[in-house]
Amino acid sequence: MSTQKPTEMTDPATRASAKVPIHQHDASAPPAAPAAPAGKHRAPPCTLVIFGAGGDLTKRLLMPALYNLTVDGLLDDGMRIIGVNHGERATQQWRDDLHSALEQFAADKASTFHAGKLDDNAWNWVAQRLEYRAGEFEDDALYQNLARELTGDGKTKANVVFYLAVSARFFKPIIERLGKAGLLKEDESGDGDSAAFRRIVIEKPFGTDLASARDLDRHLLDFAQESQIYRIDHFLGKDTVQSILAVRFANALFEPIWRREYIDSVQITAAEVIGVEGRGSFYEQTGAFRDMVPNHLFQLLGMIAMEPPNSFDAEAVRDKKAEIFDALKPLTPQDVVFGQYEQGPQGGAYRDEPNVAKDSRTETYAAARVQIDNWRWAGVPFYLRTGKRLAARRTEIAVQLKSVPFRLFRDTPVDALTPNVLTLRIDPSHGTSFDFNVKTPGPLMEIGAVRSSFDYDDFFAQHANVGYETLLYDCMLGDATLFQRADSIEATWAAVDDVLHPKNGEAVPVHGYASGSAGPAEADALLAQDGRAWRTLTPVEPKKQ
Ligand code: BG6
Repeated sequence: MSTQKPTEMTDPATRASAKVPIHQHDASAPPAAPAAPAGKHRAPPCTLVIFGAGGDLTKRLLMPALYNLTVDGLLDDGMRIIGVNHGERATQQWRDDLHSALEQFAADKASTFHAGKLDDNAWNWVAQRLEYRAGEFEDDALYQNLARELTGDGKTKANVVFYLAVSARFFKPIIERLGKAGLLKEDESGDGDSAAFRRIVIEKPFGTDLASARDLDRHLLDFAQESQIYRIDHFLGKDTVQSILAVRFANALFEPIWRREYIDSVQITAAEVIGVEGRGSFYEQTGAFRDMVPNHLFQLLGMIAMEPPNSFDAEAVRDKKAEIFDALKPLTPQDVVFGQYEQGPQGGAYRDEPNVAKDSRTETYAAARVQIDNWRWAGVPFYLRTGKRLAARRTEIAVQLKSVPFRLFRDTPVDALTPNVLTLRIDPSHGTSFDFNVKTPGPLMEIGAVRSSFDYDDFFAQHANVGYETLLYDCMLGDATLFQRADSIEATWAAVDDVLHPKNGEAVPVHGYASGSAGPAEADALLAQDGRAWRTLTPVEPKKQ
């Protein structure tokens, strides 16, 4: 996560004219490989080998991200993209398939990659670099062929990123074979520019509990160094998530109050309206808790709660995050509530989804109360919730401040004042809001609650981002700030181990909730025990134009 990025802030007075889609195609369109923006370097020349070239991740996110990086001029002309998948397919066929997929997403307003129309120059630049190789992930011959292709005479130095866009069961077999074929051996001779790197990008799920995560880490470290491993959590690719550190550490306003003396509680919500989207078999094994809590939601918690690092260096930032994960008080089954959607206004029951057992006990909703055992946060609860088929799509972090200390306004007792809440809106609306109190107009000294909001779209030119651009670019640059280190992954799994494997052997009960509701009543009770309530889950209103 480079700190050198030029800001694209526009004066609010000129912001209307700033709303220019980045992909608008006109006669003065940039040349095939546009120049990198001022202050930004192109990624070094590199071969990206994508295992799982025929999968959803590749077409929905990786290719759009590579296309967007091309439009931004951040890829080197020496870039190659080798797609590996089982099944014969000609390179031209792969290019054509990806082209039609991207065109379709670009035209779809609901897609994260809503580019309008593809820029032909940019697409052609990407397409020329795409090569398809058929192969079975567990076939040694595939790796021998790759080794020949990448290093040919044995002297060629090639920077390579191996991207594992595959089902988790292939992580170990692929890494083992890459290692045995000598493909993970870095060439450290020469200086930074002439040395050649070998990096591996792994998607979640990184294990399914503490034991399996440790086992996967051990396996990886048999064949690669920790510094070669880039564990992705796609939430960290979101600008609004990266901005949490900016809000905290680039403003004098927040940090002094960012502590137990002033903060009452924090609520982190990742609510979805969609169901399991045809991923029934995956979801049956995973459930909402494993799918979202120890990874995405804990990452948000880590960024909200970490101490200021000494610098923006990857290790400095990751050390501070790791300290928070170490300080998590292990969750018990009493700290969580699980739910499963039933028939309701939003549609049918989870149990009626394809590939889901009729008596499934898999949770599609999870809420948790998390405590951080350290000086700054002792006694401040962090409430987390996530779920499918809820009333609204909303990912946000709400930091609620404590009440003012005494009753100053005669007719307004302290507890009748609306508490100050700073809300960091991650998705689908992007920005921050602050709830505070003012005097209402008129002769009486009456207090009214108001909201001050910042929306990204009002201040910045729209910038195409499917969430993987920064992650891919950073990986090629060797900046691991936004990637997960083994110690953090293991600490987050350790914090939830008693929930996944309760000591008394009794699984956490799963309560029903109507599809389209705010979740099970038991989740409300979890907060009511502490005298608190969840923020209302109303749909995000479309922005008035
Ligand atoms: C994924 C989960 O990691 O994150 C999905 O597997 C979930 O179940 C998704 O829908 C949510 O991500 P986002 O970026 O759409 O909020």
